[in-house]
Amino acid sequence: MAGIELDESSQTFLLTTPASSYALSCDQEASILRHLHWGAPIDLESAVAIGRASDVPLGGERLTWGSELPLEYVPWGGQRYDEPSLKVDFPDATRGIEWRVSGHSVKAFEGTWTLGIELRDTHYPLWVDVFYRIFDDADVIERWARVRNVGDEGAIVVRQAHSANWCLRLEPGWRARYLQGGWGSENQLSEVLLQPGKVVIESRRGTTSHECAPWFSLDPNAQANETTGEVFSGSLAWSGSWKIVLETTPGRRLHACGGLNDFDAPIVLEPHAELVLPVFAGLYSSEGFGGASRAWHHYQLRHVLWHAARDGASPSFPSSALGRPDAARTRSRASRPAGAMSSATKSPDGPALRPVLYNSWEATWFAVSEAGQAHLAELAAEMGIELFVVDDGWFTGRRNDHAGLGDWFVDKEKFPEGLGALISKVNGVGMAFGLWVEPEMVNPDSALYRAHPDWVLHFAHRTRTQRRNQLVLNLARDDVADFVFTTLDRLLSEYAIDFVKWDMNRHLSEPGWPDERQNPERVWLDYTRNLYTVLDRLRAAHPNVDFESCSGGGGRVDLGMLARVEQVWTSDNTDALDRILIQEGFSQAWTTQAMMAWVTDSPNPMTKRRLPLRFRFHVAMAGSLGIGGNLAEWSDEERAEARELVETYKAIRPTVQFGHLYRLASIEKGPLAAREYVSADGRFVVAFAYSVAKPLRPWPSRLRLAALDPAASYRNLDSGAIERGAVLMQLGVDLPNALDVSSMLVRLERVET
Ligand code: DGJ
Repeated sequence: MAGIELDESSQTFLLTTPASSYALSCDQEASILRHLHWGAPIDLESAVAIGRASDVPLGGERLTWGSELPLEYVPWGGQRYDEPSLKVDFPDATRGIEWRVSGHSVKAFEGTWTLGIELRDTHYPLWVDVFYRIFDDADVIERWARVRNVGDEGAIVVRQAHSANWCLRLEPGWRARYLQGGWGSENQLSEVLLQPGKVVIESRRGTTSHECAPWFSLDPNAQANETTGEVFSGSLAWSGSWKIVLETTPGRRLHACGGLNDFDAPIVLEPHAELVLPVFAGLYSSEGFGGASRAWHHYQLRHVLWHAARDGASPSFPSSALGRPDAARTRSRASRPAGAMSSATKSPDGPALRPVLYNSWEATWFAVSEAGQAHLAELAAEMGIELFVVDDGWFTGRRNDHAGLGDWFVDKEKFPEGLGALISKVNGVGMAFGLWVEPEMVNPDSALYRAHPDWVLHFAHRTRTQRRNQLVLNLARDDVADFVFTTLDRLLSEYAIDFVKWDMNRHLSEPGWPDERQNPERVWLDYTRNLYTVLDRLRAAHPNVDFESCSGGGGRVDLGMLARVEQVWTSDNTDALDRILIQEGFSQAWTTQAMMAWVTDSPNPMTKRRLPLRFRFHVAMAGSLGIGGNLAEWSDEERAEARELVETYKAIRPTVQFGHLYRLASIEKGPLAAREYVSADGRFVVAFAYSVAKPLRPWPSRLRLAALDPAASYRNLDSGAIERGAVLMQLGVDLPNALDVSSMLVRLERVET
């Protein structure tokens, strides 16, 4: 049974999740929070015994060599030479922390338990709370901390403040895996065998970044694989600059710590101010990398994604952004004309199914017009698409990427009657309407910049570096945050907009704020805080509008953002072959439901590669399906085939979006990539196989499925053939011969025999 237990005499806490345990002890005399266990389930008695057996004598040799002592939250001070959790300057120039555990609390709330442990500095007015939250239905442990200056005089400067310190048990060696990449090549899985020293993954870009995701996995002695072995994984809920350090001490102790990036970012805590750090979530799985991914997906569907999140104590998921009642969505949508995201796409037990969307970006680029969009909308509706999204180019002065950002008024030349006429047409053919915005940015060639040149991030006497001809608004300023909220609020109030694609096409540079003399570096923190506040305010004011996080593709995907949006744009690279790898990496950390995947034109505009329509569909149908091609140039046959594939997708969508994902084969390792989804009740099975012929590599003729009931029978919903689970898992299903590239969709339903 999940929950939190305490052994009073040894002050040992045991956190129990459905399939893991986590134990720590508060040693009041030594004033430390000692890590005892993270991994396979144990009972409280065993946790106490682990504490006793690994007890370290006070002042003993090991303790003075502090870095070898596994602490839950590491104060910088004494002989501690590894990465600390917290480092501060006190007003009198003292810099070391000495604290005592001063109390704890356990709160239970609707299937969640939160443990808070308070530590107080022995002399200075510095109080720190270390928090843990667990769930009755997930193996994720959310951790974060709160740092307070409870004094009346003098500021405390926080130099480094991590959300958590995850201690791993002593092992001869550990392998780390993480996701790196770039624009158009996000989420490439990399791995490294850890040696004494540090591996640092981070973003200093003011946002999550394409270059690295705030996620990692660790497996002891590189023994895990896709289906078996122990895996420990962490994920940070922060959309600004972040840092995760995997440090192996000389004594071969591994700890994984991190949170806000400390680079150029001291935080001044004035008297009575507090700093609440973002959630750093972690999980343990004994079912290999596949098990760890499924555990992340489940947690995100149940507790993170906007429409599934519940109220709770986690600071990155504030209550204002949580608990949108589904009933309200249904009511309000019903009052909209022909809203496509109707109850037909909703699941009674959880988050709503994502609608099939059309996005006009790769069809029209900036050449948006009412007639052109209306024509695309008609074609999209004929294909069964449910949500029509007008991308970049709809606002004043936007003919290319040189001008217009910041002037969020409908271009009257392109839309003489405003957006209303187009929205009526879109609704009239049965689709909901969505709009692209990039509200954190400004082109120097815009009315906004001419009126407020001081609103952008900049240093006096330094170049304002442009990227894609744009500058970044200083969202840390409250007047700028108000402008962004008011702009979006106006658009959402004026027009019947059902969906917003929120883009961010460049990262921060010259993070200066000349008007802020006290603590200009707080821009790093307050930019992201205000981003969250604006999103939370918009969601509260417009509860029926869905949001997508886009950042030049997948540049802002993290738990903090997922808590505020329904979906994310995965990559600007829509080439289906490249997407197989990008989607494989994405699935390590993030749920399928959030992963937007479009079918676009052939040859692909970015890579010029030609691929069959069905192959492109099969790759995109493995996520939340969208179409992004120029439908006006598709032939009648192509549109008819697309209509049939959209219909097929709608039939398999609940299994794809909510099912348990099994990565059956990776294109990194051979000519075949394959993934399978099994519905939670085990009744439906969907599998996609993609083959890419490679010289002299034999083509596998069968695909072995996973996670079926060996004794049950399954009907192939296309051929009608019935086969036993054992046969499908041991022998597999036939694969088509591959000449160049080919793909296959398998749909099964468990049948009573
Ligand atoms: C980058 C996005 O990823 C694209 O999908 C598109 O919205 C462009 N920006 C528009 O400028």
